[in-house]
Amino acid sequence: MTVLASKMALVTGASRGIGEGVARALDAAGARVILTGRAVADLERVAADLGNDPLVLPADLAPGGAGTRLAEAVLSATGGVDVLVNNAGMAIGGASEDLKEADLDLIVSVNFRSLLMLAVGLAPAMMERGGGSIINMSSVASVRGPVGRVAYSATKGAIDAMTRALAADWGPKGIRVNAINPGLIVTEMTEESLSANPGRVEELAARTALRRLGEPDDVAAVVVFLASDAAGYLTGETIVVDGGMVRTIAPRSSPSAAKPAG
Ligand SMILES: NC(=O)c1ccc[n+]([C@@H]2O[C@H](COP(=O)([O-])OP(=O)(O)OC[C@H]3O[C@@H](n4cnc5c(N)ncnc54)[C@H](OP(=O)(O)O)[C@@H]3O)[C@@H](O)[C@H]2O)c1
Repeated sequence: MTVLASKMALVTGASRGIGEGVARALDAAGARVILTGRAVADLERVAADLGNDPLVLPADLAPGGAGTRLAEAVLSATGGVDVLVNNAGMAIGGASEDLKEADLDLIVSVNFRSLLMLAVGLAPAMMERGGGSIINMSSVASVRGPVGRVAYSATKGAIDAMTRALAADWGPKGIRVNAINPGLIVTEMTEESLSANPGRVEELAARTALRRLGEPDDVAAVVVFLASDAAGYLTGETIVVDGGMVRTIAPRSSPSAAKPAG
């Protein structure tokens, strides 16, 4: 499948987890991928497997100005991209009444401010290329209220709102802007809490219509679709990719009783 042949794609948070899966899937679809994140060895590990002359541009998205600086680095290295996957993110948890302003500043910078400024910095060149596709990684935490995740879910709500506003602003210039709201995807971000609670994986799977947790490839496939011409009339959308966890009603019974028939 080379639906993205000759396309240039930037993936933030490409060093592991969902972003790694996205980088691999975009490369397999024919795109040349620019990988960014802080963990240089991991970025190079992923890039070593890619076939379309990948580029590694390390960046920390926490400091002020980081999104703008990364956009400038991408423009000077490549001239611009057709696809931007704004995937980098971090999570913090704990009782809302214990939230520290410094932690809020950090998560807003990484999950929202830098990603918006990166899009702002790259959009003019994208327009000059005739348009493109921006895919923002949100979360089901933006559509439901998760316990102990006020700052994280607020940044994801901001991602959803920014997606719709940028779609309105840049649609006339040929840029489509969409978001994906993953459910529980097994990555480093979720592994610690899953392994600390025996039986949690089975419990969550039982509350999911498709009876399993997600894998990075489940999200990456939707990214490739949104990046491709197949999604050419789709913009301003937030697409939940969660095996049906949010949109269906979980069974009341125990996990064992919730096993799929047959
Ligand atoms: N896993 C889930 O269940 C789930 C569910 C809903 C939404 N999401 C969202 O999906 C995205 C990817 O999550 P994941 O599960 O793949 O998480 P992950 O395995 O923890 O990976 C996070 C990625 O973000 C990058 N990142 C974190 N802080 C950064 C910083 N300061 N500067 C630059 N890059 C930074 C990391 O790269 P470096 O460490 O190399 O910097 C890493 O590549 C996030 O936006 C997350 O909120 C995940």
